[in-house]
Amino acid sequence: MTDFLEDARRVLAANDRGGYTVPTDRLYPFQWNWDSAFVAMGFATYDVPRAYRELERLIEGQWADGMIPHIVFHAPSDTYFPGADVWRTSHDIPTSGITQPPVFGMALKKVHDAAINSGLEDARGRSLVLYEAALRWHRWWYAARDPNATGLVALLHPWESGSDNSPAWDIALARVPTTTETIVMRKDIGHVHAAMRPRDVDYHRFIHLVDVYATCEWNPARQWSAAPFKVAEAQTTSILLKSGEALLDLAHQFGRTSDAKELEAFNRRSRRALLAQWRPHLRRFVSRDLISGTDIDAPTQACFCPLLALDLQPAIREAAIEEMELWSEGLTVLFPSTQPNYPGFEAKRYWRGPVWAIVNWLLIDGLRRNGAIEMAEKLRHSAVEAIERNGFAEYFDPLTGEGCGGLGFSWTAASYIVLSNSGEWPTV
Ligand code: GLC
Repeated sequence: MTDFLEDARRVLAANDRGGYTVPTDRLYPFQWNWDSAFVAMGFATYDVPRAYRELERLIEGQWADGMIPHIVFHAPSDTYFPGADVWRTSHDIPTSGITQPPVFGMALKKVHDAAINSGLEDARGRSLVLYEAALRWHRWWYAARDPNATGLVALLHPWESGSDNSPAWDIALARVPTTTETIVMRKDIGHVHAAMRPRDVDYHRFIHLVDVYATCEWNPARQWSAAPFKVAEAQTTSILLKSGEALLDLAHQFGRTSDAKELEAFNRRSRRALLAQWRPHLRRFVSRDLISGTDIDAPTQACFCPLLALDLQPAIREAAIEEMELWSEGLTVLFPSTQPNYPGFEAKRYWRGPVWAIVNWLLIDGLRRNGAIEMAEKLRHSAVEAIERNGFAEYFDPLTGEGCGGLGFSWTAASYIVLSNSGEWPTV
């Protein structure tokens, strides 16, 4: 009999490059921000020191202003574009210039709890350093990406969402010019079939944005004024709030009273703002395009992420769950990153339909928090089964279950380690 758990650990070991884990060989040969946070939670179940290490290596890339970049280029590799030279940032270790969803705080709390439970030496000291880094990052989010204190944080590049190619960006991204100063030399389509990857024209827009922000010398205020893409986003704000709850808990444990007050204020602001993004007629939450001032109502997984961080009243909770059930009807694997009836749905192109185990993980946490145990279990079984049948692929086709994108993928392995373990992990 195959020992899938052992295989999952082997995937993580194979992707270890010295205390940090690459998402997968060649396609993503550096340390990615939210990937590492999920990986750390996987490690926390069997190797707590290694879990700490993953987060410690990530904050080597933290900028002086508190931002934790989406990629840390610890060691050179020529199998990825855009590499360090394209970003033109000035941190001592080369990094990208944008960020990614702040799962770090959630991960830190899991790692800290595991360290305390296992009696690991110096747990408090190691956690404290990471806690301070996380708090500085949260301050950055609220200052740099919500200067008007709305409670919703904004993304200036689709890649900051982690859902890089989502139909949620179609309208906002179409406004971004396709001209670039940088020569676009894609490497991704040498590793994975082009039909699974973003279109060329969108890649030019992604790089146009990098050029604009590099010209602003990555200064947050200048970027905010110059940004041709600015989206106040539901998924990222939900993750920030959930991590904010985790950090608040740690602040109490560490006796950091004034931090706790500050975090409470952040959390309150985001909680109120997220709740205001509920649209009863759509039965889901929406993001906001800050350039046009309109709702982004493309039906994607992000619309249900607020469950992760809100305790919803029954009417909203039930409507959201019914909607999730509708989207799931007839699918082989749950939960799709785009509603299957939507014209922009594509079963194999990344973030435009496929199932991601880490998305299930976040949604399961949210469903559990809101008492929807049955739906949570459906999503959990679905992800576990898909992985057992189709391997540790980057993502899965919801119609056929086929594993797509990169293979031997770290966050899919980490998801398996956590989700196959009955899902009874404590919520923060
Ligand atoms: C893709 C995903 C992003 C992820 C990265 C590494 O760019 O869209 O969310 O962090 O791959 O796995």
